[in-house]
Amino acid sequence: MPLDHNERQSGRDGARWRQDFPIQSGEASYAARREFTKFLGLTSTAFVFGTLIAAGRSIWKRWAAASHAPRAVARVAEVDVGAYKLFRYPTDGDPCILLRLGPSAFAAFNQNCSHLACPVHFDTEAGHLLCPCHAGVFDASDGRPLAGPPRRGLDALRVDVRNGTIWVSDPGGAST
Ligand code: FES
Repeated sequence: MPLDHNERQSGRDGARWRQDFPIQSGEASYAARREFTKFLGLTSTAFVFGTLIAAGRSIWKRWAAASHAPRAVARVAEVDVGAYKLFRYPTDGDPCILLRLGPSAFAAFNQNCSHLACPVHFDTEAGHLLCPCHAGVFDASDGRPLAGPPRRGLDALRVDVRNGTIWVSDPGGAST
């Protein structure tokens, strides 16, 4: 049956439209599959990263809890009254100082000055902790600033004595 003028015109328009905007259905479905595969790949990668981050956090928490656990730093007999002992807590990068202020009086501090982190030392004659960098002075019993530029006290550690052994721990943590 012969096509009338309108059908011939629309057929020509359709052919022209396809020529101007060539979309092959095979290609279109290939592109959709590729996009979906990419989406799955990204989702899986995000999931793996999320799992690794969660595992890392859990390991770090366990490590932090272990590193802040109470630690035996000296025997009482090792430190004379008025003397001190240096140690590191909670990590090997944290210098600390243990003071024996009386027969059964001990104090321990992080050795970093609260001003600009120079290491403080114990002046046994004055009975104070001194910072040589800018002449900061701290009370040896509680670490509060007494003179010089420091406005904040030293970070104190908890000290416990059990069976002749001196233990230090994070003051916010559990005791021995
Ligand atoms: S660093 Fe200690 S007083 Fe400045």
